[in-house]
Amino acid sequence: MIDIHSHILPGIDDGAKDLAESVALLKLAQSDGITHMVTTPHIHLRRFNNSAWQLHRDLAALKVHIKDTDIAIKLAVAAEVRLDIELMALVIANELPFIGSSNGAHYLLLELPHSHVPSGYDKFIKWLAKQNIKVIIPHPERNRDIQANPYYIERLKQLGCEFQLTASSIEGGWGDKAKVISENMLKADLVSYVATDAHSVKRRPPILSKAKQLVTHLVGEEKAQQLFITNPWRLTRSLFCD
Ligand SMILES: [Fe+2]
Repeated sequence: MIDIHSHILPGIDDGAKDLAESVALLKLAQSDGITHMVTTPHIHLRRFNNSAWQLHRDLAALKVHIKDTDIAIKLAVAAEVRLDIELMALVIANELPFIGSSNGAHYLLLELPHSHVPSGYDKFIKWLAKQNIKVIIPHPERNRDIQANPYYIERLKQLGCEFQLTASSIEGGWGDKAKVISENMLKADLVSYVATDAHSVKRRPPILSKAKQLVTHLVGEEKAQQLFITNPWRLTRSLFCD
């Protein structure tokens, strides 16, 4: 399986605290059957001001650290970028790490605030589209405005967004509302990816297998293969080239 959303680089956001925790997360992911991980540290202006070069530097250091271990997971880096009007300057300067590219378009993992869908979100996503940037919304099922009003899913879909569910939401780990929305989105074929959003070994572990079983039961084996393997690989394969 291929995990396209995780926070396993040490000490640069609210994910792994140090190298020891990064290694523990990788071992756990490997034992769960994950073969490829895209680590997606937060770029959240004024909170986590990570830049593309810092992320690539830290991934290179992690790769060196695990070189002589039994960790065989292939690693790549992108970012989970918090929606903010000030991102426009970074887009124009070509300084945002994308999570994939296809047919000349770039894909951005664009996080909404957890509490709400901010006004102007549609204008910003349209502006990104004009820059040839397509949006993937991580964990829409955990957003409180979306939980209260599923209209937002329809609107985001109309704007050309794809959706990525959190594996633990499907298991019920983020409450009943997130679980029901996840199931409804899966049944309505509105989901393109399922990922761990792993932050820590105990509270938010890198586990996909349990969710894959549930998704298989809900929408069938073929769809589960698409959501956990085929679609993630099509999106991110260019990141794993080096
Ligand atoms: Fe995340």
